[in-house]
Amino acid sequence: MYGNDFGPSANEGEDVRPIDDAAAQVRFDALLADDERIEPRDWMPAGYRKTLIRQIAQHAHSEIIGMQPEGNWITRAPSLRRKAILLAKVQDEAGHGLYLYSAAETLGAERDELTEMLITGRQRYSSIFNYPAVTWADVGAIGWLVDGAAIVNQVPICRCSYGPYARAMIRICKEESFHQRQGFELLLTLSRGTDHQRTMLQDAVDRWWWPSLMMFGPPDDASPNTAQSMAWGIKRHTNDELRQRFVDMTVPQADVLGVSLPDPDLELVDDHWRHGPIDWDEFNAVLRGEGACNRQRIEHRTTAHTDGAWVRDAAAAYAEKHQRAAA
Ligand SMILES: [Fe+2]
Ligand SMILES: [Fe+2]
Repeated sequence: MYGNDFGPSANEGEDVRPIDDAAAQVRFDALLADDERIEPRDWMPAGYRKTLIRQIAQHAHSEIIGMQPEGNWITRAPSLRRKAILLAKVQDEAGHGLYLYSAAETLGAERDELTEMLITGRQRYSSIFNYPAVTWADVGAIGWLVDGAAIVNQVPICRCSYGPYARAMIRICKEESFHQRQGFELLLTLSRGTDHQRTMLQDAVDRWWWPSLMMFGPPDDASPNTAQSMAWGIKRHTNDELRQRFVDMTVPQADVLGVSLPDPDLELVDDHWRHGPIDWDEFNAVLRGEGACNRQRIEHRTTAHTDGAWVRDAAAAYAEKHQRAAA
Protein backbone atom coordinates (compact mmCIF):
# COMPACT_ATOMS: atom_id res chain seq x y z
CA MET A 1 0.00 0.00 0.00
CA TYR A 2 0.95 3.45 -0.46
CA GLY A 3 -0.77 4.96 2.48
CA ASN A 4 -3.85 5.85 4.39
CA ASP A 5 -4.41 8.94 2.38
CA PHE A 6 -7.39 7.89 0.35
CA GLY A 7 -9.79 10.33 1.94
CA PRO A 8 -12.79 9.88 4.17
CA SER A 9 -14.25 6.75 2.69
CA ALA A 10 -13.38 3.71 4.80
CA ASN A 11 -15.59 1.54 6.97
CA GLU A 12 -18.84 2.34 5.27
CA GLY A 13 -21.69 -0.08 4.86
CA GLU A 14 -24.11 -1.29 7.42
CA ASP A 15 -24.15 -4.71 8.88
CA VAL A 16 -27.36 -6.46 7.80
CA ARG A 17 -26.96 -10.03 8.93
CA PRO A 18 -29.89 -12.21 9.97
CA ILE A 19 -30.46 -12.88 13.67
CA ASP A 20 -29.15 -16.49 13.49
CA ASP A 21 -25.72 -15.16 12.63
CA ALA A 22 -25.29 -14.12 16.25
CA ALA A 23 -23.35 -17.34 16.86
CA ALA A 24 -21.16 -16.59 13.83
CA GLN A 25 -20.49 -13.13 15.22
CA VAL A 26 -19.37 -14.69 18.51
CA ARG A 27 -16.94 -16.96 16.61
CA PHE A 28 -15.67 -14.00 14.58
CA ASP A 29 -15.09 -11.94 17.73
CA ALA A 30 -13.30 -14.87 19.34
CA LEU A 31 -10.96 -15.25 16.36
CA LEU A 32 -10.11 -11.55 16.58
CA ALA A 33 -9.63 -11.73 20.34
CA ASP A 34 -7.20 -14.65 19.92
CA ASP A 35 -5.33 -12.76 17.18
CA GLU A 36 -6.18 -15.55 14.72
CA ARG A 37 -6.71 -14.85 11.03
CA ILE A 38 -10.11 -14.54 9.37
CA GLU A 39 -10.13 -16.60 6.15
CA PRO A 40 -12.39 -16.33 3.06
CA ARG A 41 -14.47 -19.33 4.23
CA ASP A 42 -15.26 -17.67 7.57
CA TRP A 43 -18.34 -15.64 8.31
CA MET A 44 -17.57 -11.95 8.70
CA PRO A 45 -19.67 -8.83 9.36
CA ALA A 46 -20.74 -7.02 6.19
CA GLY A 47 -18.97 -3.86 7.34
CA TYR A 48 -15.68 -5.74 7.82
CA ARG A 49 -15.94 -7.22 4.33
CA LYS A 50 -16.82 -3.91 2.74
CA THR A 51 -14.06 -2.02 4.52
CA LEU A 52 -11.49 -4.61 3.49
CA ILE A 53 -12.60 -4.68 -0.14
CA ARG A 54 -12.32 -0.93 -0.31
CA GLN A 55 -8.97 -0.75 1.45
CA ILE A 56 -7.40 -3.61 -0.51
CA ALA A 57 -8.77 -2.26 -3.81
CA GLN A 58 -7.43 1.23 -3.12
CA HIS A 59 -4.13 -0.30 -2.17
CA ALA A 60 -4.09 -2.31 -5.42
CA HIS A 61 -4.98 0.78 -7.46
CA SER A 62 -2.11 2.65 -5.80
CA GLU A 63 0.38 -0.03 -6.83
CA ILE A 64 -0.78 0.10 -10.43
CA ILE A 65 -1.05 3.89 -10.73
CA GLY A 66 2.26 4.12 -8.87
CA MET A 67 3.97 2.52 -11.86
CA GLN A 68 3.41 5.69 -13.90
CA PRO A 69 5.66 8.39 -12.40
CA GLU A 70 8.72 6.14 -12.50
CA GLY A 71 7.75 4.10 -15.56
CA ASN A 72 8.12 7.39 -17.36
CA TRP A 73 11.88 7.26 -16.63
CA ILE A 74 12.65 3.73 -17.83
CA THR A 75 13.64 4.85 -21.32
CA ARG A 76 15.72 7.71 -19.91
CA ALA A 77 17.63 5.87 -17.16
CA PRO A 78 21.28 7.01 -17.28
CA SER A 79 22.83 3.52 -17.51
CA LEU A 80 21.94 -0.08 -18.30
CA ARG A 81 22.31 -0.96 -14.61
CA ARG A 82 19.89 1.80 -13.56
CA LYS A 83 17.46 0.80 -16.27
CA ALA A 84 17.48 -2.85 -15.13
CA ILE A 85 16.89 -1.83 -11.51
CA LEU A 86 14.06 0.53 -12.41
CA LEU A 87 12.41 -2.02 -14.72
CA ALA A 88 12.50 -4.61 -11.94
CA LYS A 89 11.03 -2.14 -9.47
CA VAL A 90 8.17 -1.02 -11.71
CA GLN A 91 7.39 -4.66 -12.56
CA ASP A 92 7.28 -5.45 -8.83
CA GLU A 93 4.59 -2.80 -8.44
CA ALA A 94 2.50 -4.50 -11.13
CA GLY A 95 2.91 -7.74 -9.19
CA HIS A 96 1.82 -6.04 -5.97
CA GLY A 97 -1.32 -4.85 -7.73
CA LEU A 98 -1.99 -8.40 -8.90
CA TYR A 99 -1.60 -9.98 -5.42
CA LEU A 100 -3.88 -7.32 -3.96
CA TYR A 101 -6.62 -7.55 -6.59
CA SER A 102 -6.53 -11.31 -5.99
CA ALA A 103 -6.88 -10.77 -2.24
CA ALA A 104 -9.90 -8.51 -2.91
CA GLU A 105 -11.40 -11.26 -5.08
CA THR A 106 -11.33 -13.67 -2.13
CA LEU A 107 -13.86 -11.30 -0.52
CA GLY A 108 -16.22 -11.52 -3.49
CA ALA A 109 -15.09 -8.44 -5.41
CA GLU A 110 -14.81 -8.65 -9.20
CA ARG A 111 -11.60 -7.35 -10.69
CA ASP A 112 -13.45 -5.78 -13.63
CA GLU A 113 -15.65 -3.85 -11.26
CA LEU A 114 -12.69 -2.61 -9.24
CA THR A 115 -10.95 -1.37 -12.39
CA GLU A 116 -14.17 0.34 -13.40
CA MET A 117 -14.40 2.05 -9.99
CA LEU A 118 -10.83 3.32 -10.35
CA ILE A 119 -11.30 4.64 -13.87
CA THR A 120 -14.57 6.35 -13.05
CA GLY A 121 -13.14 7.92 -9.90
CA ARG A 122 -15.39 6.07 -7.45
CA GLN A 123 -12.39 4.52 -5.73
CA ARG A 124 -9.18 6.34 -4.98
CA TYR A 125 -5.49 5.62 -5.12
CA SER A 126 -2.81 7.19 -3.00
CA SER A 127 -2.60 10.92 -3.67
CA ILE A 128 1.21 10.80 -3.76
CA PHE A 129 1.09 9.56 -7.35
CA ASN A 130 -0.55 12.77 -8.52
CA TYR A 131 2.81 14.52 -8.19
CA PRO A 132 5.10 14.47 -11.24
CA ALA A 133 8.56 12.87 -11.39
CA VAL A 134 10.34 15.72 -13.13
CA THR A 135 14.05 14.81 -12.83
CA TRP A 136 16.08 11.61 -12.53
CA ALA A 137 16.64 12.43 -8.85
CA ASP A 138 12.88 12.03 -8.36
CA VAL A 139 13.25 8.33 -9.12
CA GLY A 140 15.61 8.09 -6.15
CA ALA A 141 13.43 10.29 -3.94
CA ILE A 142 10.37 8.18 -4.70
CA GLY A 143 12.23 4.98 -3.78
CA TRP A 144 13.73 6.43 -0.62
CA LEU A 145 10.73 8.41 0.66
CA VAL A 146 7.58 7.01 -0.99
CA ASP A 147 8.56 3.34 -0.81
CA GLY A 148 10.08 4.07 2.60
CA ALA A 149 6.74 5.43 3.84
CA ALA A 150 4.97 2.52 2.17
CA ILE A 151 7.06 0.04 4.16
CA VAL A 152 6.25 1.74 7.46
CA ASN A 153 2.57 1.64 6.52
CA GLN A 154 2.62 -1.92 5.26
CA VAL A 155 4.71 -3.85 7.77
CA PRO A 156 1.87 -3.77 10.35
CA ILE A 157 -0.55 -5.06 7.68
CA CYS A 158 1.46 -8.30 7.63
CA ARG A 159 -0.45 -8.86 10.91
CA CYS A 160 -3.83 -7.78 9.53
CA SER A 161 -6.70 -9.95 10.76
CA TYR A 162 -7.69 -10.92 7.20
CA GLY A 163 -5.44 -13.83 6.15
CA PRO A 164 -5.09 -13.31 2.37
CA TYR A 165 -4.30 -9.61 2.80
CA ALA A 166 -1.76 -10.28 5.54
CA ARG A 167 0.00 -12.98 3.52
CA ALA A 168 0.15 -10.84 0.36
CA MET A 169 1.75 -8.12 2.45
CA ILE A 170 4.64 -10.30 3.60
CA ARG A 171 6.01 -10.71 0.10
CA ILE A 172 5.20 -7.14 -0.86
CA CYS A 173 7.15 -5.80 2.10
CA LYS A 174 10.26 -7.75 1.09
CA GLU A 175 10.09 -6.19 -2.35
CA GLU A 176 9.39 -2.71 -0.97
CA SER A 177 12.54 -2.97 1.04
CA PHE A 178 14.51 -3.44 -2.21
CA HIS A 179 12.67 -0.42 -3.65
CA GLN A 180 13.62 1.75 -0.74
CA ARG A 181 17.26 0.70 -0.90
CA GLN A 182 17.62 1.23 -4.63
CA GLY A 183 16.22 4.75 -4.17
CA PHE A 184 18.60 5.53 -1.33
CA GLU A 185 21.57 4.12 -3.25
CA LEU A 186 20.66 6.18 -6.31
CA LEU A 187 20.53 9.34 -4.18
CA LEU A 188 23.78 8.44 -2.44
CA THR A 189 25.45 8.21 -5.86
CA LEU A 190 24.10 11.65 -6.76
CA SER A 191 25.30 13.03 -3.42
CA ARG A 192 28.86 12.02 -4.35
CA GLY A 193 28.55 13.49 -7.84
CA THR A 194 28.77 16.99 -9.28
CA ASP A 195 27.33 20.17 -7.83
CA HIS A 196 24.55 19.95 -10.37
CA GLN A 197 23.69 16.43 -9.22
CA ARG A 198 23.62 17.51 -5.59
CA THR A 199 21.31 20.40 -6.47
CA MET A 200 19.02 17.97 -8.29
CA LEU A 201 19.04 15.68 -5.26
CA GLN A 202 18.16 18.48 -2.84
CA ASP A 203 15.41 19.75 -5.12
CA ALA A 204 13.81 16.30 -5.35
CA VAL A 205 13.91 15.82 -1.58
CA ASP A 206 12.39 19.29 -1.09
CA ARG A 207 9.47 18.36 -3.31
CA TRP A 208 8.81 14.78 -2.04
CA TRP A 209 9.29 15.23 1.71
CA TRP A 210 5.90 16.73 2.65
CA PRO A 211 3.81 14.60 0.27
CA SER A 212 5.46 11.50 1.73
CA LEU A 213 4.39 12.58 5.25
CA MET A 214 0.85 13.03 3.91
CA MET A 215 0.86 9.39 2.77
CA PHE A 216 0.03 8.37 6.34
CA GLY A 217 -3.32 10.09 6.07
CA PRO A 218 -5.02 12.79 8.14
CA PRO A 219 -4.01 13.36 11.77
CA ASP A 220 -5.59 11.01 14.31
CA ASP A 221 -8.14 13.57 15.51
CA ALA A 222 -9.43 13.87 11.92
CA SER A 223 -9.47 10.15 11.23
CA PRO A 224 -12.81 8.92 12.57
CA ASN A 225 -12.61 5.40 11.09
CA THR A 226 -9.34 4.44 12.74
CA ALA A 227 -10.99 3.11 15.91
CA GLN A 228 -13.24 0.65 14.06
CA SER A 229 -10.40 -0.51 11.81
CA MET A 230 -8.22 -1.10 14.86
CA ALA A 231 -11.00 -2.99 16.63
CA TRP A 232 -11.25 -5.23 13.58
CA GLY A 233 -7.50 -5.82 13.49
CA ILE A 234 -7.25 -4.31 10.02
CA LYS A 235 -5.19 -1.42 11.29
CA ARG A 236 -2.59 -1.86 14.03
CA HIS A 237 -1.32 1.69 14.56
CA THR A 238 -2.79 5.16 14.09
CA ASN A 239 -1.77 7.47 11.24
CA ASP A 240 0.24 9.75 13.51
CA GLU A 241 2.10 6.84 15.13
CA LEU A 242 3.18 5.54 11.74
CA ARG A 243 4.10 9.02 10.51
CA GLN A 244 6.29 9.52 13.58
CA ARG A 245 7.98 6.17 12.99
CA PHE A 246 8.77 7.20 9.40
CA VAL A 247 10.18 10.58 10.38
CA ASP A 248 12.38 8.99 13.08
CA MET A 249 13.69 6.47 10.58
CA THR A 250 14.29 8.97 7.77
CA VAL A 251 15.93 12.00 9.42
CA PRO A 252 19.24 10.20 10.14
CA GLN A 253 19.26 8.86 6.56
CA ALA A 254 18.96 12.44 5.24
CA ASP A 255 22.14 13.17 7.18
CA VAL A 256 23.98 10.37 5.40
CA LEU A 257 22.84 11.80 2.06
CA GLY A 258 23.95 15.28 3.09
CA VAL A 259 20.56 16.80 2.29
CA SER A 260 18.43 19.09 4.39
CA LEU A 261 14.75 18.37 4.93
CA PRO A 262 12.42 21.28 4.08
CA ASP A 263 11.08 21.70 7.61
CA PRO A 264 12.56 24.45 9.80
CA ASP A 265 10.64 23.12 12.81
CA LEU A 266 12.16 19.65 12.74
CA GLU A 267 13.48 19.04 16.23
CA LEU A 268 14.63 16.12 18.34
CA VAL A 269 12.43 15.90 21.46
CA ASP A 270 12.63 12.90 23.80
CA ASP A 271 14.27 10.70 21.16
CA HIS A 272 11.67 11.58 18.51
CA TRP A 273 12.04 13.91 15.56
CA ARG A 274 9.04 16.26 15.76
CA HIS A 275 8.00 17.73 12.42
CA GLY A 276 6.33 21.06 11.70
CA PRO A 277 2.72 21.53 10.57
CA ILE A 278 1.58 19.65 7.47
CA ASP A 279 -0.28 21.58 4.77
CA TRP A 280 -3.55 19.65 4.82
CA ASP A 281 -5.09 22.14 2.39
CA GLU A 282 -2.65 20.92 -0.24
CA PHE A 283 -3.48 17.32 0.66
CA ASN A 284 -7.23 17.94 0.34
CA ALA A 285 -6.78 19.78 -2.95
CA VAL A 286 -4.90 16.81 -4.43
CA LEU A 287 -7.61 14.47 -3.10
CA ARG A 288 -10.23 16.62 -4.83
CA GLY A 289 -8.40 16.06 -8.11
CA GLU A 290 -6.42 19.28 -8.24
CA GLY A 291 -2.96 17.70 -8.17
CA ALA A 292 -0.59 18.22 -11.09
CA CYS A 293 -1.20 14.76 -12.57
CA ASN A 294 -4.64 13.49 -11.41
CA ARG A 295 -6.13 13.66 -14.88
CA GLN A 296 -3.09 12.34 -16.67
CA ARG A 297 -2.85 9.29 -14.38
CA ILE A 298 -6.44 8.19 -14.94
CA GLU A 299 -6.35 8.91 -18.66
CA HIS A 300 -3.21 6.82 -19.00
CA ARG A 301 -4.73 3.98 -16.97
CA THR A 302 -7.91 4.10 -19.05
CA THR A 303 -5.95 3.93 -22.31
CA ALA A 304 -3.89 1.01 -21.01
CA HIS A 305 -7.10 -0.78 -20.02
CA THR A 306 -8.69 -0.22 -23.43
CA ASP A 307 -5.53 -1.20 -25.29
CA GLY A 308 -5.28 -4.37 -23.17
CA ALA A 309 -8.77 -5.64 -24.01
CA TRP A 310 -7.42 -8.12 -26.57
CA VAL A 311 -5.08 -9.64 -23.96
CA ARG A 312 -7.98 -10.24 -21.55
CA ASP A 313 -10.12 -11.67 -24.37
CA ALA A 314 -7.30 -13.99 -25.46
CA ALA A 315 -6.67 -15.18 -21.89
CA ALA A 316 -10.39 -15.87 -21.36
CA ALA A 317 -10.64 -17.77 -24.66
CA TYR A 318 -7.56 -19.82 -23.78
CA ALA A 319 -8.91 -20.69 -20.32
CA GLU A 320 -12.27 -21.67 -21.81
CA LYS A 321 -10.62 -23.93 -24.40
CA HIS A 322 -8.66 -25.73 -21.71
CA GLN A 323 -11.72 -26.08 -19.49
CA ARG A 324 -13.60 -27.68 -22.41
CA ALA A 325 -10.69 -30.02 -23.10
CA ALA A 326 -10.52 -31.00 -19.42
CA ALA A 327 -14.29 -31.67 -19.35
FE1 LIG B 1 4.48 -1.75 -4.11
FE1 LIG C 1 7.41 -0.12 -4.11
